[in-house]
Amino acid sequence: MCGIVGYTGIKNAKDIIINGLKTLEYRGYDSSGIAFVNEGKIEVYREVGRINALEQLVKDVQPAHIGMGHTRWATHGKPAKENSHPHTSTNRLITLVHNGVIENYLEIKNELLKKGYTFSSETDTEVVANLLEDEYKKTKDMKQAIINMMKRVHGSYALGILCADSSDTLYCAKNKTPMLAGVGEGFNMIGSDAMAMIKETNKFIEINDLEFLVVSDKNIEIYDQDGNAIKRDSFTSNVNANDISLGTYDHYMLKEINEQPTVIRTLLKEYLDNGKTKIDSQILSEIKNADRLYIVASGTSMHAGYVGKYLIEELASIPVEVHIGSEFGYHLPLISKKPLFIFITQSGETADSRVALQLVKKHGYKSLTITNVAGSTLSREADYTLLLHAGPEIAVASTKAYVAQVTLLALIANELASNKLDLNLELSKVATSIEDIISRKDQIRKIVTDRIVYSRNAFYIGRNLDYYVALEAALKLKEISYIQTEGFASGELKHGTIALIEDETPVLAIISQKHIALNTRSAIQEVRAREAMTTIISMEHVANDDDNFIVSDTHELLAPLAMVVVTQLIAYYAALAKGYDIDKPRNLAKSVTVE
Ligand code: F6R
Repeated sequence: MCGIVGYTGIKNAKDIIINGLKTLEYRGYDSSGIAFVNEGKIEVYREVGRINALEQLVKDVQPAHIGMGHTRWATHGKPAKENSHPHTSTNRLITLVHNGVIENYLEIKNELLKKGYTFSSETDTEVVANLLEDEYKKTKDMKQAIINMMKRVHGSYALGILCADSSDTLYCAKNKTPMLAGVGEGFNMIGSDAMAMIKETNKFIEINDLEFLVVSDKNIEIYDQDGNAIKRDSFTSNVNANDISLGTYDHYMLKEINEQPTVIRTLLKEYLDNGKTKIDSQILSEIKNADRLYIVASGTSMHAGYVGKYLIEELASIPVEVHIGSEFGYHLPLISKKPLFIFITQSGETADSRVALQLVKKHGYKSLTITNVAGSTLSREADYTLLLHAGPEIAVASTKAYVAQVTLLALIANELASNKLDLNLELSKVATSIEDIISRKDQIRKIVTDRIVYSRNAFYIGRNLDYYVALEAALKLKEISYIQTEGFASGELKHGTIALIEDETPVLAIISQKHIALNTRSAIQEVRAREAMTTIISMEHVANDDDNFIVSDTHELLAPLAMVVVTQLIAYYAALAKGYDIDKPRNLAKSVTVE
């Protein structure tokens, strides 16, 4: 959730770290901080709010060649200067930044308090700083101090560490939280993800759990938690610095919504060849041999999983279960004889899904990760990976990754159904339909200002596939506009929730499926009779002339791909009208790397 970037080398560390932090700000953004080494002394600067505030604070700091920065998403302690990272140990020997959660921090804190260590924050991180200082004072050896610390703390951590006695070296330790090393000529870096370093280098070294690094401008040494040296080659990332620029758009979310037709076309190129699916044969045979597929995911990715379930069951008659990552990780349901577990995750780093993957692996089951990030943790840890090729998704609210996930699941479903559909044609139609929606975005903006934006709450309703779109539509609207929105199966509303419908409550209906279109229209009548403000978003072949927004036709099974785009734009314009920070909604983080 938080972001870390560290640099040691010939250039001015401040500029590189601030730029890196700006790139990482999407991961967590309630406060930030930076530490530099200047003339052998570690200086720490921290600020609440966005990176711009920190940038101002350090604008007159003299150039330094080594430093590390942190952007925080609060877990222990409210967003405040004293809880921001970096944290410094009692005698100022150790300064560190941390991403993750130390589970046994209270127990360690009590021991350290008895030894006379002092604490000025509520964080678990400061405990690690003091523990490291304690170990360092005993051993006078940073490597040994890190080894001892790693054996003592339980939980998840990516740590960037500076020691006052070896101020030309950056240390880093990792367990269950993402961290990478960036390799350069005359410099080296550490960072929570490749994007934080991509302006400087595209060469990276993976760090596994329970490993630590000793990083100088010339060398990156890797050790396991017993201090054994590890050799690991670097890899070259194909992420491009231009992929993460905003271009002419006001917000990443709008840019990413606009990229969706291209994402679909890219997936067609990647996974279809002359109408035949180009998916690794081993992966295909694992999917085909499974008697039941288990999709595990969170949030938007889980909503894509529901659509995938519908498509696979409808087209290929293979049973699919969809599970919430955070629930599945602690309770395995009854599993079929030949299961395959499919983890859907844009970031590939979601801790809840990772816990579930570990459980699945413990039971010896095979797993496939569908992710946008090559080399991400869930990709590395599953048996197989399929990439989404959506390009970096920066806005916290996921849009193009959802469309990529559903597109890829459609390709898999169709392959399982012996290519019943001509997906080259049908998905191209979807891309065109999305382009048409985007070209009429002013119409959507008007719907938002006339009918939604001034409400405290709202409902999306739909049935079957439309219900799954309603779930995603509601999540999008609530997460960036803060309008309390629920997605409901339209038939279910009358079983209780209809009690919430009042004069002018916005109810938005999704109608794209012929066999249930009339059912949803009946549900609309029911809420209209209770004075709801209804908005109908329909697809051409089931539309009435007076529906509020009509989406041009696609194959019904692929309709969610187009219908969802209308709802993404509704969320976007609602947040815009309210003047909220669209790309970085409050309380959220892009990569949810803590449980
Ligand atoms: C909402 C959103 C989240 C993520 C969820 C899982 O817009 O982005 O609900 O979908 O946190 O993240 P990933 O897909 O990275 O596992």
